[in-house]
Amino acid sequence: MTYTKQVIQETLRLYPPAWAILREAEEAVDMLGDHFPANSSFLISPYAIHRNEQMFEDAAVFRPERFADGSSQWPRFAYFPFGGGARGCIGSQFALMEAGLILAVLARRFRFVSAPGQGEAQPEPLVSLRIKNGRWMIPQRRS
Ligand code: HEM
Repeated sequence: MTYTKQVIQETLRLYPPAWAILREAEEAVDMLGDHFPANSSFLISPYAIHRNEQMFEDAAVFRPERFADGSSQWPRFAYFPFGGGARGCIGSQFALMEAGLILAVLARRFRFVSAPGQGEAQPEPLVSLRIKNGRWMIPQRRS
């Protein structure tokens, strides 16, 4: 289960379902030399930040082992698939546990192979991030 959790954490790094999070300023705020009036909207993208090379070595590479020492090795908002602060996800631990159990049961019995002829998977950023046109996978029973 240790490595299974790392696989899920790395998947949520490269493909965070909540690819953008919105915040609105109740009051005017000065930040990084810029002035933002009250009611300014801020679009914060875990998808973009999770792929920042300054934070993640070989950021585009799927490497679950990078989570071997947990996710607290990065600054708090370098890795945040569940958002954060007062409106952060209340189901994050449940989601990680649920995904880990499902993946462990399925991956022990089957190997999933992408059906031929579909080309490269294209991320599609709708309300949540998904694969454009979905993806057909062929389960092959492990011997
Ligand atoms: C992989 C699965 C999940 C992901 C990626 C996810 C992600 C998120 C994100 C990004 C937010 C907004 C955080 C923010 O604006 O800072 C959020 C909010 C929330 N999530 Fe999740 N979530 C997941 C699963 C769940 C589950 C399983 C539950 C409930 C059992 C849940 C309940 C909630 C609730 C109630 C909020 C709103 C919290 C508030 O506004 O006070 N989520 N989630």
